[in-house]
Amino acid sequence: MSEVLATRVVGNVGIIEIDSPPVNALSTAVRTAVIEGLRIHNADDAVAAIVLLCAGRTFFAGADIAEFDDLPIKQPDFDALMAAAESSAKPVVAAIHGTALGGGFELALACHYRVAVPSAKFGLPEVHLGILPGAGGTQRLPRLIGAAPALEMILSGKPVSAAKAAESGLIDQVVEEGKLEEAALAFAQNVVADGAALVKVRDKAVQGTVADLEPVKARHKRQFKGFKAPGHIVQAVEAAITLPFEQGLAREKELFGELLVSRESAAQRHVFFAQRQTAKVPDIGKDVPILPIRKVGVIGAGTMGGGITMNFLQAGIPVTLVEMKQEALDRGIATIRKNYERTAAKGRMTAEQVEQLMGLITPVLSMDELADVDLVIEAVFEEISIKRDIFGKLDGICRDGAILASNTSFLDLNEIAAATKSPEWVVGLHFFSPANVMPLLEVVRGAKTSREVIATVMKLAGTIKKTPVLAGVCHGFIANRIMEHLIVQSQQMALEGVPLRKIDQVMNDYGFAMGPISMLDLIGLDVLIHGAEGRTLMGDFVDAGRRGQKTGKGFYDYDADRKSALSDEAARIIADFAAYANVPQDPDQSDEQIMKRLLYPVVNEGAKCLEEGIALRASDIDVAAILGYNWPVFTGGPMFWGDTIGAKALLEGLEALEPRYGADFAPSALVRTLAAEGGRFTDR
Ligand code: CAA
Repeated sequence: MSEVLATRVVGNVGIIEIDSPPVNALSTAVRTAVIEGLRIHNADDAVAAIVLLCAGRTFFAGADIAEFDDLPIKQPDFDALMAAAESSAKPVVAAIHGTALGGGFELALACHYRVAVPSAKFGLPEVHLGILPGAGGTQRLPRLIGAAPALEMILSGKPVSAAKAAESGLIDQVVEEGKLEEAALAFAQNVVADGAALVKVRDKAVQGTVADLEPVKARHKRQFKGFKAPGHIVQAVEAAITLPFEQGLAREKELFGELLVSRESAAQRHVFFAQRQTAKVPDIGKDVPILPIRKVGVIGAGTMGGGITMNFLQAGIPVTLVEMKQEALDRGIATIRKNYERTAAKGRMTAEQVEQLMGLITPVLSMDELADVDLVIEAVFEEISIKRDIFGKLDGICRDGAILASNTSFLDLNEIAAATKSPEWVVGLHFFSPANVMPLLEVVRGAKTSREVIATVMKLAGTIKKTPVLAGVCHGFIANRIMEHLIVQSQQMALEGVPLRKIDQVMNDYGFAMGPISMLDLIGLDVLIHGAEGRTLMGDFVDAGRRGQKTGKGFYDYDADRKSALSDEAARIIADFAAYANVPQDPDQSDEQIMKRLLYPVVNEGAKCLEEGIALRASDIDVAAILGYNWPVFTGGPMFWGDTIGAKALLEGLEALEPRYGADFAPSALVRTLAAEGGRFTDR
C-alpha cells in the first residue's frame, strides 16, 4: 500500500484515508492512492459503501499546482480519478473538513454523497491560477446548484461555508464538528440501509440558460481584462448548459488545456508560490524565537500613522497613538473613526464593533507613554534628523527588548538605528498607502537588526494580514526603488511632448488599472516632490496650485466624479518646463518605445536589487510590485515578465535606449550575465 493511503473496514463501510501533508494536494501519488483505495473496497465483499476522507488539516486542497509545470499531467490523470469515484459500484461518501478546493472539491462532486463539518469550506479558486476547474467542476457544479450560481462561484473563486453549501445543495449533510468519521460512517450505513443508491451529479439537469449568465458576467466584467481564464470559464459553463454531459466534459478539457499552457496561468502560478515564499528567510530557521507583540505604539497620527494603527486594531492589538499636538491627535482619531463608520454604514461592521476597535486606541501627547509597548512604529515626516531624534529618545523610554521600527520609505535605516544604543532592535516596517488597505509590508533589515526581530515582524505581518517582503537598506528599498523609473520616465516623456493620455494608455494596455500620470495625480504631486531639490516639473505644478486629484487638478483636471480631462494650463506648465530644461521634442514615439522606456528600467533595477542582495529572490520583487503598485498579476510581476522577454532581448533594448536616455537604461551586471549565459531572473 502507498505511503499516503490507509484503508480499513468498519462494519460494512470501507474507509479510505489519505494523508499527504501539508494540504493533501492531488499529486500523482495521491490520485493513484485514491483509485487504489476505491479498488480495494470495491473488491471486498464485506464492504457495502465507502467513505473517503483525509488526515491532517484539510480535505484535498486541489491539484498539486507544482505538477502543472510538467505537462502532460501524469496518469492516472483527473479524468481517471473522477471516473473511478463516480463509477464505483458501491456508494462513495466524501467526508470533508478544512478546505475542499479545486480538484479536491471536484472529487467530492464526483462522489455520490458529501458530508462536512461546520468549519469546512468549499471553493473553486482555479481562476486565481489562470485556469478553470478542469476535473469536471464546470459541468457538475451547474447541475447541482444551477448555471448562474455555479458561474458566480467559479468566477469569484471565493469559498463558501458548510452552511451555505448545505443550503444550496452542494453537500448532503452538515455533521458535528470533531466527529466527522463517525458521522460519515453513520451516513454511509443509512445509505446502505436505504438501498445504496448511486446518486450521480452528471445525471441531473442543469437549471438555467445561457442568458442567465449575463448578469454574472457583467458583475465580474473587470476581471476579464488581461486575464484569459474568465472568458474560458464562461464558455465551459455555457457548454454545461448546451451540451450533453460527456461532450461538455470534453469541451471543458479542451479549454482547460489551453489555459494550462497560457502565459497568464504560468504567471499566476508563479505568483501563488512567490507569495508563499516571501516570509522564508534563509538564515532564520524555526529555532529563532518569536517575541510576543501584545501592545504597539505608533508615532504620528497622520494618514500613514492612522492607517498603520488600524491594522493592529483589526487584529485586536491595542495601540498607543502619539502626536505632538492635541489638534493633530484629535484629527487623526477622527479620521480612523470616520473610516470605520463608513464601513459600518455599508453594513460590513456593527456600531458595536466600531466602538470596540476605537476602544483599543490610547491617544497620548507624549512619547513617554510608550514605556510598556512591545513594538513602536514611527510614522512621522521623512526627515532624517527628526527620525534620529525620535529614535534617540525612544531608547531611553521603551523597555529593553522593545522593537523600534521606522516606516521610512527612502531614508537610511542604519543611520536611524545608529541614533540608538541598541541598533539590533531597530527595523524598517514600510507600509504602502493607504496602509490599512495595501497588502504589502516591506520589512527592512538593517546592518545590525537581530534575527529575533526579523523573525518576529515577518510573523507579525501575517497577524495583520500583510504579505512581508524582506529588503536590505538602500534608497527606496524594493518597490519604490524599482518603480521610481516609471515615474521619472513618464514625466520625461511628457516633457518630450508625448501626449499624457498616450503614456497612460500604453500602461493600461499592458495591464495596469491606472497609468503612471494618473497615478502621480492620485498620490499627490506635493507628496512626491518632498525632499526634491531645485526646480522640478512637479514642483511647477504644485506652485500653480495643481497638487493632483485632491485639488481637482494636477497633470489632468478632475470633475466632481474624479473623471479626468486634459488641461491647457497643465500643457503650458509642461511646455514651459521643457523649454527651461532644454528637452528635445519627440512627441510621436511608438507604443512599443513608450512601454520599453517605462518598464525595461524597472526590470533592470530589479536585477540590481538582486545583484546587491537588497532582495532575497526575484519572486520577492514580483510580489512587491504586484502588492505595492498593483503591477498586473497576469504578467507575473516585473522579473517573471523580464524572463518572458528574455535577458538577451532586454539587454538589447536597454543598450538601444541608453545612449539617448541615459543612466536609467545602463544594463545591470546581472542582465548582462543572464543574457550571456541564457539564465532566468526567477531562478535566483
Ligand atoms: N498544490 C501544491 N502545493 C500547495 C497547494 C496546491 N494545491 N496548496 C497549498 N500548497 C502548499 C503551499 O505552497 C505551502 O507550501 P510551503 O509550506 O512549502 O510554502 C503549503 O502548501 C501550505 O499552504 P499555505 O501556506 O497557503 O497554507 P494555508 O493554511 O494558509 O492555506 C490553502 C491552505 C487554503 C489550502 C491554500 O494553500 C490554498 O488556497 N491553496 C491553493 C488551493 C487551490 O488553488 N486549489 C486549486 C488547485 S488547481 C486545481 O485543482 C485544478 C483542477 O481543476 C484539477
